[in-house]
Parts: sequence; C-alpha cells; structure tokens
Amino acid sequence: MMTSAKSTLSARGADLATGPNMRDQSSQILGKQWHPIDNPDALVNIGTAENNLMQEDVADFVKSKDLDLQGVDFDYGEGPWGSVRLREGLAKFFNEFFQPHTNIDAADLTCMNGCSALFNMLSLTLGDPGDGIMLSMPSYVAFASDFGMVGKMKPIFVPTPPNTDAFSPEILSSYETAFQNAVRSGVRPRALMLCNPHNPLGRCYPPSTLIALLEFCNKYRIHLLADEIYAMSVYSLPSETKHAAEKERNDDPATPFTSILSLSYEDYIDPNLLHHIYGLSKDFVSGGLRIGSLYTRNTSLQRALCALSSFHWIGQIDQLIAVTMLEDAGFLASFLEKGRRALASSSRVARELLRREGIVWFGGERVNAGFFLWVDLRAWLGRKGTDEGVEDREEGGRWEAEGRLSKRMLDGGVFLTPGRGQGAEEPGWYRLVFSREEVVLREGIKRLVKVLGDVKKGSTV
Ligand SMILES: Cc1ncc(COP(=O)(O)O)c(C=O)c1O
Repeated sequence: MMTSAKSTLSARGADLATGPNMRDQSSQILGKQWHPIDNPDALVNIGTAENNLMQEDVADFVKSKDLDLQGVDFDYGEGPWGSVRLREGLAKFFNEFFQPHTNIDAADLTCMNGCSALFNMLSLTLGDPGDGIMLSMPSYVAFASDFGMVGKMKPIFVPTPPNTDAFSPEILSSYETAFQNAVRSGVRPRALMLCNPHNPLGRCYPPSTLIALLEFCNKYRIHLLADEIYAMSVYSLPSETKHAAEKERNDDPATPFTSILSLSYEDYIDPNLLHHIYGLSKDFVSGGLRIGSLYTRNTSLQRALCALSSFHWIGQIDQLIAVTMLEDAGFLASFLEKGRRALASSSRVARELLRREGIVWFGGERVNAGFFLWVDLRAWLGRKGTDEGVEDREEGGRWEAEGRLSKRMLDGGVFLTPGRGQGAEEPGWYRLVFSREEVVLREGIKRLVKVLGDVKKGSTV
C-alpha cells in the first residue's frame, strides 16, 4: 500500500521537499564540463563559480607528494573542529598572506566541511528564526539559503542608491536605512555578511568602507561576518588591455584587496562581533575537499559551533591533502601567483569577446577579483513597460522575462547564473564565470551570443 511520500514527513521535511532544490538543476549544470572531443553534447557551464584553470596543478602537486597514508588516517582523527595540523597550516597561511594586525592563533580557528556548513551553523548560533542577516545587493547566490533554509534567518537586502558606489563608505547610509526598515517591520538584524572580494561583482572594498562597516556593526551590536574566500584570487589585467590614457597615467582603477584582519579592527569593533571566514574551494580550486574555517575570538560562539561541529566533520584524508598544500611554502607562492595570472588572462579573453558583442559588465576596469563578471543583459529582456509598477519579484513581468531568457540560454546549451537568485536589484543581470579552459569559455560565449542574437535587443523574449 502506497501513501503519499510527502505526508510521511515532518512539517519541516515537507517544506524542504517542496522548496527549491539544488538536485533538480544539478544533473544538467554540475558534473563533467563540456569539451569539444570528450563531452561534446554537454551544456557549457559558465555560471558555477569553479576555477577549472588550475585544477590540474593541484592534482599534479598532490600526486607528486607521497601522502604516505597510514591506518590511523582512516580513523576519526582529533575531533570535528579540524586537526591541529590543519588549523596550524591555515593560521600560518593567514599570517603570511593576509597581513593580520594581530597574529592568528590556530586555537581561534574552527573548521568544518565547507563555508556553506559554517554559514548554516552561524545561522543557528547567531540568529533565532525570523531574525535578519544583512546582505548586499547583489549577493553570493547561496547566502540567503545558507542562513534561511535551516536557521530561518531572513535576508535584509541593502540596495545601492543611484549614483552611489556600493564599495564606497557612502553605501553606509543604505545599511542604516535597511537596518531601520527591518526593525520597523519586526525583523531584528543580528549579523551583516561582508563578501570581500565580492561575489558576484568581482571588486574589493577599500579600508575606508571596511572601517565604516565595522563601526556600523559595533554601533548596533550586530556580528560582522567577513567572507574572504576569494582573497588570493585578485588579479591585475595585463597592461595591453588597459585604455591608452590609463596606461599613460599608469594608474589602476581597481581597488587592491585588504583583509579585514589586517586592520586594527579593535579600534572600531568589539572583537567578539567580528568573525572571519575562509575556505579552500576557490583560491585552492578545491571545492571537493570541503574545507572551511572560521576565525573568531568570541569563545562562546566557538563553543556553540564546536557543539554542532560533529555534523560537519571534515574527512581526515581531505585534511591531509589540504595540509600538504598549506605546509609547502614553495608550492603556495608559485601556485597562487600562477592562479592569479591564469585568472587575468581568462578574464581578458572574456572581456574582449563581450566587448566585441557590445555586452557590458558592472564595474568595467575596476573589476579585478574572483572568477566572474556581472554582465548586463537587460537589453535582451524585451520591451520595457510590461512590468511598470510591478513590485512583486514573484510576478514581475521583467523578472519573468529574465526567467524566459535563462531558459533560452539553457535550451541554447549554455548556463550563466541569473541575477534573480542573487539578490539583483533589477532583472537582466547574470554572473558569467570566465575561469574555464579557453576553448570552453569561447564556446560558452559563442552560445550566449547566438541566444542573444536570436532574441534580439529590445524585442520580446
Ligand atoms: C562567497 C562565497 N562564499 C562561500 C562559498 C561556498 O564555499 P564552500 O565551498 O566552502 O562551501 C562560495 C561558493 O561559491 C562563495 O562564492
């Protein structure tokens, strides 16, 4: 006798069963990347933030090291918050590459299997259901669900007013307004998520804005969560791509990366409110290792996270592979440098191809970080006016048009991440990931251009 499968679940289970589900999409998008010979029928994924440019370097390095696995390596190990070797390796890495103002102590690090797991645990330890987490617009696609799906924290999106640079201290007035609006609507803001370098905008925050954000969080006694997962993926564009005037002035319009840990942050915030997140998924192109770390000097938070950490234990062998990289100073320096050069050159290819088609991206030459460009495809959503006055993102006409354009892209064999799920302020913005082998990137953009050509600027998609 069969009952309805859903009716046997808890209310929470039924809710999860009917909500958005990564598995629905992943078979098409994730998995083996398109390749002209090995996998010619696949979709070209230029939407998922993975760096395929450096994967073989990681594999070759690990193969070149004899991991010398012993029986005990298959044990549980030293505890779910990360082995001493892993935490010491990470602390050394931060002390060397992030110029921290205060030396990072391995004892203040708590590791889990990925930053996503850490965010989920932070939602349970920093917020109660219905409390708010402040997020920039746009934001990394999973922040809202990392904090909302289990912990039930609500995103408080912070828009950027016209003519304001979202990376300048001026943006603080929007944080103030969003904070007050949330409080008025009964949502208690508990934390602010700072993503620096920013996903998906690909820019870094200057110290002045970082300080203003620290002061803001301190003023309202909310936590500042600084996600610096792209810290080492900041690149300089080769000078031949710069405009002549820029070359002459020899000035770089892009802001270099400043880690929040490098500031004398205690002058601006109670250190109990600042938490730093890092992981090996991006700079070390090792999303499959599942390694995330949280640096906090808040001992109560650390205790609360450790109480939950057994649900998010990192495999011992994965930790061993990670320390093999972190402990090898020569590898670190050359790998990270090569990675930055590879990103610069791939970004240049993407920029040239897009420019040729008249496609622009947010930030222009100021974009210097991450694996992506935030491309403006608003002109391909069809005639404006169909959604005049439509506020509801579920029903807005142009959001629907973005959905149709995204479908056309998938039908055309290419995936870019649509802005809707990333807290975009307007429909028509997409994250294009350029950290792909050149042949893949070229094919992806070729397919995108074909879809856009079929849709035609200004007509109805
Ligand atoms: C800004 C940011 N934070 C966190 C993550 C997820 O990290 P992890 O693979 O460690 O869960 C991503 C992945 O795309 C990201 O872009």
